[in-house]
Amino acid sequence: ASTLGASAAEKGRYYGTAIAAGRMGDSTYMTIANREFNMITAENEMKMDATEPSQGRFTFTNGDRIVNWALSNGKRVRGHTLAWHAQQPGWMQSMSGSALRNALINHVTQVASYYRGKVYAWDVVNEAFADDGRGSRRDSNLQRTGNDWIEAAFRAARAADPNAKLCYNDYNTDNWSHAKTQGVYNMVKDFKARGVPIDCVGFQAHFNSGNPVPSNYHTTLQNFADLGVDVQITELDIEGSGSSQAQQYQGVVQACLAVSRCTGITVWGVRDTDSWRASGTPLLFDGSGNKKAAYTSVLNAL
Ligand code: XIL
Repeated sequence: ASTLGASAAEKGRYYGTAIAAGRMGDSTYMTIANREFNMITAENEMKMDATEPSQGRFTFTNGDRIVNWALSNGKRVRGHTLAWHAQQPGWMQSMSGSALRNALINHVTQVASYYRGKVYAWDVVNEAFADDGRGSRRDSNLQRTGNDWIEAAFRAARAADPNAKLCYNDYNTDNWSHAKTQGVYNMVKDFKARGVPIDCVGFQAHFNSGNPVPSNYHTTLQNFADLGVDVQITELDIEGSGSSQAQQYQGVVQACLAVSRCTGITVWGVRDTDSWRASGTPLLFDGSGNKKAAYTSVLNAL
């Protein structure tokens, strides 16, 4: 096939992108997004600060713009994200204890209920592990409500939208030998053993020269899949250019295709100029919307 989404579909996978509501008036951007991708993540519009700006008052206007555009164009949606230490609304940042726990569960319930039936997979919890080299939980106001906050969020999400796949999502979990990878692996293993509802693990996959695509990526994805969850690459971008960047993008496709439970790949933006990264050229289309070498290598690998 001649597009990323259609080629991935031939392999039983998806190829997606993040969409920013503020760019939806840009016709070059929207033309590429509609043509190439068949899974859509809202880059910011479904996060806690966007959906519950003041406590108990929910706003879905921008999330809906993205979700409705995706669904009406035959695409699926990854929901991102119900619970995270970052991009919390101000009122939540200053909360703690049981009041915060209750607010968290209410948030998960309200947002997952609102989008019930429209979301293929939710990143229920994002980035809850630390980069401390010991595989510990990250300290946060949510973590300080008790170590069971993650499973409580997953149970609330399952009750609110029983048909959505429920994912744990994180970064720096790509290399099998990293302590953080092991920490997340042990949590998922424990959740599966105790019947905590979890269906998938998302690997953000923000790569750069100091943190390249690991040669053991396939091992990592396979080991998680062997726990009985789907795995997905959820926020892929790779700093660099030319053939070295193209090769790494191709390696990510190969790692995913080698794991039957790797259901798809999402890149974190359309053109280089749309990237959240302050500098560099980490995406598949240049600032003018031209296909880069990385695009061609992904299409050929699919
Ligand atoms: C980023 C967005 O791309 C930016 O626009 C925003 O300013 C900050 O968040 N991990 C995640 C994503 O899970 O939600 C982040 O997205 C990038 C890192």
